[in-house]
Amino acid sequence: MTDWEWDETLFAGSAAYYAQGRLPYASGLVPLLAEVLPADGHGRLLDVGCGPGTITVPLAHLFHEVVGVDPDPGMIAEAERRATAAGVADKTHWVRIRAEDLPAGLGTFTVAAFAQSFHWMDRHRVAQTVRGMLRTGGALIHLSDLKTETRTTEGLPYPAAPYEDIAALVKRYLGPVRRAGRGLLPHGTPGDEAAVLAGAGFLGPERHVVPAGQVLRRTTDDIVAWTFSLSYSAPHLFGPRREAFEIDLRRLLALASPMGHFSERAPSTEVFLWRSP
Ligand SMILES: C[S@@+](CC[C@H](N)C(=O)[O-])C[C@H]1O[C@@H](n2cnc3c(N)ncnc32)[C@H](O)[C@@H]1O
Repeated sequence: MTDWEWDETLFAGSAAYYAQGRLPYASGLVPLLAEVLPADGHGRLLDVGCGPGTITVPLAHLFHEVVGVDPDPGMIAEAERRATAAGVADKTHWVRIRAEDLPAGLGTFTVAAFAQSFHWMDRHRVAQTVRGMLRTGGALIHLSDLKTETRTTEGLPYPAAPYEDIAALVKRYLGPVRRAGRGLLPHGTPGDEAAVLAGAGFLGPERHVVPAGQVLRRTTDDIVAWTFSLSYSAPHLFGPRREAFEIDLRRLLALASPMGHFSERAPSTEVFLWRSP
């Protein structure tokens, strides 16, 4: 990631596809967090890189107030819409800024969350800032889909989504090197967040795996939405060829499943919990 520079197009146009396309976090995630976090209904949650409020909204009932921060206007609009639909608009606040712009006068928090977002940030700087924003006894959670499990598709009712063919199609349109915003990410995003968080003085981590694995039925539209929800195949990257790409993508999916249904197992969710010193 050394030469790559963040820009505001990173997830441009993805928000509308996000909720439909992305796989859900494990259903046991919220109960686990209710148990392990300092979350008694009185505190404040800061969700950094909140996207469309994926975890902000379902965690809102555990806090007095929740604040979601994200630089993408589409994500913030989608998060607002979801909070209203869930009846928690009065206790949620959405701020369109980068994590690097924190603390931005947002005050102090009991819990800070990074759900599949920390790798996009200037992590050392953000970790230091967020540490300063946490109250005594506060906690930071870093969570993502569990990457180390095999999610077998054998014996499931519908075919597996042809993810390798989708990747090849994306490369045919966008070139062989992974795209991210206006730049290229040949080596992907960094993964050594434990060293970064420990270096910023956080204590831990406590690791939790919330199991999932239930069989999901996904439609062609879900897989198209999944593709456009990703930074490396976000709609803006295709420019005037966006429609042509979608036609080719749907053709490929129709070949894999003429009925338009795919089966896949839900990923487990991995949570690292760090305590504020
Ligand atoms: C993969 S999505 C995760 C969204 C949500 N947290 C979830 O778990 O579904 C990554 C999010 O991080 C946001 N993001 C990227 N760079 C960021 C930055 N520098 N500061 C704050 N958020 C950022 C993106 O706009 C996007 O919404």
